[in-house]
Formats: sequence, structure tokens, C-alpha cells
Amino acid sequence: MRVVTIVGARPQFIKAAPVSTALRQQHDEFLVHTGQHYDDDMSRIFFDELHIPRPDINLNVGSGTHAAQTAQILQGIEQVLVDNHPDAVILYGDTNSTLAGAMTASKLNVPIVHVEAGLRSFNRMMPEEINRILTDRVSTICACPTQHAIKLLASEGITEGVHFTGDVMFDAVLKFRQIAVQTSTIGQRVSLDDEYCLLTLHRAENTDSCDRLTAIVTALIASKVRIIFPVHPRTRNRLMQFGLWDRLKCSNFIHLIEPVGYLDMQTLTQHAHKVLTDSGGLQKEAYFLHVPCITLRDETEWVETVDDGWNCLAGAQHDLIVQQMRNFQPDHAQQQHYGDGHASEKIVEVMERYFG
Ligand code: UD1
Ligand code: UDP
Repeated sequence: MRVVTIVGARPQFIKAAPVSTALRQQHDEFLVHTGQHYDDDMSRIFFDELHIPRPDINLNVGSGTHAAQTAQILQGIEQVLVDNHPDAVILYGDTNSTLAGAMTASKLNVPIVHVEAGLRSFNRMMPEEINRILTDRVSTICACPTQHAIKLLASEGITEGVHFTGDVMFDAVLKFRQIAVQTSTIGQRVSLDDEYCLLTLHRAENTDSCDRLTAIVTALIASKVRIIFPVHPRTRNRLMQFGLWDRLKCSNFIHLIEPVGYLDMQTLTQHAHKVLTDSGGLQKEAYFLHVPCITLRDETEWVETVDDGWNCLAGAQHDLIVQQMRNFQPDHAQQQHYGDGHASEKIVEVMERYFG
């Protein structure tokens, strides 16, 4: 098979790492980086640490409005697909890079493999919800991380080409967690021995709302809990714009650090007392690593983590966040919702059946 893979944002590099390894055993992959994320600590570090092959092309689209960014990616990808004649295109998750890949490939009649298909938040205010609904609709193969995702697709009438593969982020955690323990140097920069919560925040619904961001920040400060916070560039900008950056900096138990690489992040997660996040990927990683998670959103796509009692939704509710930071404790055993750690190989096997 000759496959074009399209990635552009931090979580997509991580998801692509195990799949690229499995695919390249026997097949040709042409790797497109759209350039949606471009800072070294949002992009290059993941290629280095996870041994992802260098992109064959970087479209260098950078940041912009949804329309501008998506349009630039559309144009860039069209030429790549015309030049490469792939048997299939692999897309990951729900970013603007995913949607642009889906629109271009479907118009050129190139079959799409959507990895992490069938996720729904039922909140159409989220750009990601629009991106994933549209991408699932035009995909030839929907590679679902959970059985729940298969049910959600069925409820929308999507039943053909739907496969349960398991979650590729689970593959990545299993593959790299030991390497993280051996090689990460994050413990030299922040103490992992003193109890802490690990925080990440970047969802537009939180960062672009002054009210929500203020409620979250004041809750963090009020909790008086030690927090390690690798700050996404979008969030840094908004914290500064809303006058919240200095308040966080002044509190001597909140450690603001630059975004970290995957191995440092796994180490920080493994040692954390709790995780606080609005990230999709980190909610799952907390679950995989048996760390309680407080999700700073009103809903989640990863419902299994909540049903099992390892994740709770606190939204941007000041009092609830403080209370959950103090009291939340999982009270159930975990189940194996996310596959057996071989989702990547399963995805390649399914592709071979269709396109091989
Ligand atoms: C994007 C995805 C989101 C995903 C997240 C992962 C969309 C609509 N959103 O959100 O689903 O969860 O990536 O992290 O595709 N910026 C930099 N340097 C960078 C990248 C971004 O400074 O390398 C800043 C820019 O100011 C930019 C802002 O972050 O405008 C937002 O970046 P963008 O890629 O548009 O969205 P994310 O919030 O990163
Ligand atoms: N991550 C990382 N460094 C950081 C923050 C997150 O390596 O400073 C990893 C995290 O462990 C997970 C992925 O990035 O594997 C999640 O990406 P993000 O939260 O940006 O996006 P989402 O999953 O919400 O789409």
C-alpha cells in the first residue's frame, strides 16, 4: 500500500508514532505535517523523542482563523494527493488538519482511514465536534478506540467500514512509559517528590472565555494545592490578555512551565497525585496510568473513564474544582475499554484487507 498520513497538531504526532511504525513494516508512507503546530516544544520534540520519521512535506500553514487555517491546509494537501496517488489517507482525531484532510481526500475520491473515529461530545460549540462529525461521515474506515464509539456511529447510521481497533494512545503509553522513566529529566527541573496535581488547559471554550478562565484560575489559587502547569501557547496568550498570568505567577505553589515533551509528560503524569485537564489525550493517559483525573469541561467524549469512577467533570465551576481537588478519589476497578495495546497493528491489518 502507498499511504499518505496527515498530521499537524501535538496529539496527532503522538497518535501517528505507533501507527507509522506498524505501517512502515511493509508499506510506503508519505508523511504530511500541515504546520498547524510549529513551536519546537509543540512539534519537533515529538518527532525526535518518539522517533517519528521526518515529514516528507511541511505545509507550514501556522496559526489563523478556522477558515484561513483550514483553507490553506486544503490547498496544500490537494497537491500532495494529486502528486502521490495514494491507496488511502490516514487522518487522526478532530483538528482543523483532520477536517481539511477529509475534505480534500473525499473530493479526490481517495479512501480515508479515520483513527479515533466515533467520538462525540454532543457539544457543537466545539470546533472539534464539527471536525469529527464531518470526517467520520466521509471516511471509508472508521477505526474506533472503544465499543462506545461504534455505538455512537451506529446511532448516526454509520455502520459500514466501522472497526473496533482500540486506542493508539494506549499503544503509545505502553511503548514509551518505561523509556520515560529511564530518560526523562523533568525531575531535575521540578520536584516530583512533593505531592502535586498536574494541570493542562487549552480548550477554546475555557481559554477564550474570560469568565471560565478566571473561575478556573481562582479555583486553582484557592485550592492551595501544589500544581505543575505546562502552559499551552494559546493559554499563555489568553492568561496574559485577561490579566491572569501574574496572579498565577505570584502564587508560590503553582509552577508554570513551558510545554514539555512526551517523555517528560508521561513522567509528570505517572508521579502526579491528580490530573486536572481539559485535554482529551491526557484524560485517557491519566486513566491508563491509574491517576485520578478532574476534567475541566462540562462533558467528555471519554465516558468510560467517568463511568469507571476515575474521572470526574468539574467544568469551570470554582467550588466544585476546589472540592474535587481535595476529595476526588476513584472508587471502582478499571476495565479494558481501550483495547490491548495493539491498536496500531490492527489498523494496518484492516487497511490491508481493504486496500492491500
Ligand atoms: C488545536 C486543535 C485542538 C487540539 C489542540 C492540541 C483545532 C480546531 N484545535 O488546538 O483540537 O486539542 O490543537 O493541542 O484544530 N500556537 C503557538 N504555537 C504553536 C501552535 C499554536 O503559539 O506551535 C498558538 C497560536 O497563538 C494559535 C493558538 O496557539 O493561534 C491556537 O493554536 P491552534 O492550532 O489554532 O489551536 P489549538 O488551541 O492548539
Ligand atoms: N502533552 C505533552 N506535553 C505537554 C502537554 C501535553 O506531551 O506539555 C501530551 C499529552 O501527554 C497527550 C497529548 O499531548 O499525549 C495531548 O495533547 P493536547 O492536550 O494538546 O490535545 P488533545 O488531546 O486535547 O487534543
